[in-house]
Amino acid sequence: MDTAAGQFQERMRRAAADVEALLAGLLSDDTRACEVVRPPYLLAAMRHGVLNGGKRLRPFLVVESAALLGGVRDASLRVGAALECVHCYSLVHDDLPSMDDDDLRRGKPTVHVAFDEATAILAGDALQTYAFDLIASPETQLPDKAKTELVLALAQAAGLGGMVGGQVLDLAAEKKTPDEQGIITLQAMKTGALIRFACEAGAIVAGAGQEDRLRLRSFGERIGLAFQLADDLLDLTADTQTMGKATGKDAARGKGTLVALHGQVWAEAALSRLVQEAEELLMPYGDRGAVLVETARFVANRRN
Ligand code: IPE
Ligand code: IPE
Ligand code: MG
Ligand code: MG
Ligand code: MG
Repeated sequence: MDTAAGQFQERMRRAAADVEALLAGLLSDDTRACEVVRPPYLLAAMRHGVLNGGKRLRPFLVVESAALLGGVRDASLRVGAALECVHCYSLVHDDLPSMDDDDLRRGKPTVHVAFDEATAILAGDALQTYAFDLIASPETQLPDKAKTELVLALAQAAGLGGMVGGQVLDLAAEKKTPDEQGIITLQAMKTGALIRFACEAGAIVAGAGQEDRLRLRSFGERIGLAFQLADDLLDLTADTQTMGKATGKDAARGKGTLVALHGQVWAEAALSRLVQEAEELLMPYGDRGAVLVETARFVANRRN
């Protein structure tokens, strides 16, 4: 196996295990001094939505972007865990009956199926606020300036002009198909914003200068678009067993995607172009960028 690819797999496995362990500890039964109680049913729903075997791509991107620029691993893991909480909240809400109405996620019943709808909504809410708690917490060993920048960038990526805004545009796209630019915009928001944040967050954790931060942000933008394009392709080509979630749903709901608009061959070519652009952005880092280059390839070629 080529070394960069081998290294990538091992590093991704290790980051996923580390972030999983961290999240399990953070979502333990123990009530913290700052909390009144942790309602067991809510906590169980949060654990169900988080500790259920996701790929942990976003935390990995935080860890590797930070590592590239000399950031401390522990801090990058905590920021990665915070981002994973936001991502998992977005999935719990995305699966709700009023949104995509899905019963299966990561090979298990969705949170509203395993618990109930109100609990799924509240588990998502609590995961979102916990993410900001985690970043700002004294246990996250970063300068206050970095924490403020992370909170600001995550809030912006997750909210009105980012993920949530994108989800609204995505639902609207079931009723009226947007044009190509409209689809790119909605995907850059619903999926791209959190992935872009992951890469930029690594630069913030590392205390990097503006040039590195912008370069990582642009890299994140490319792979964010590639990630959703691959998701839409997989919705068409992969099976439920492999994906751990229902497939074939985008076409069934008449969802406006680039795959629906231009077809599979076009989408595969577009994916290659995005990966190429992502790789070019990392060229100034030479060999040090190899793991992130492999990550860009993984995002485009993933099978689940
Ligand atoms: C699924 O994200 C939702 C999209 C943004 C397309 P992932 O494919 O990263 O889901 P997990 O975290 O691995 O389950
Ligand atoms: C979900 O997009 C994006 C977010 C959760 C923000 P999809 O609706 O395509 O994701 P899947 O296919 O259900 O994972
Ligand atoms: Mg959706
Ligand atoms: Mg969905
Ligand atoms: Mg999808």
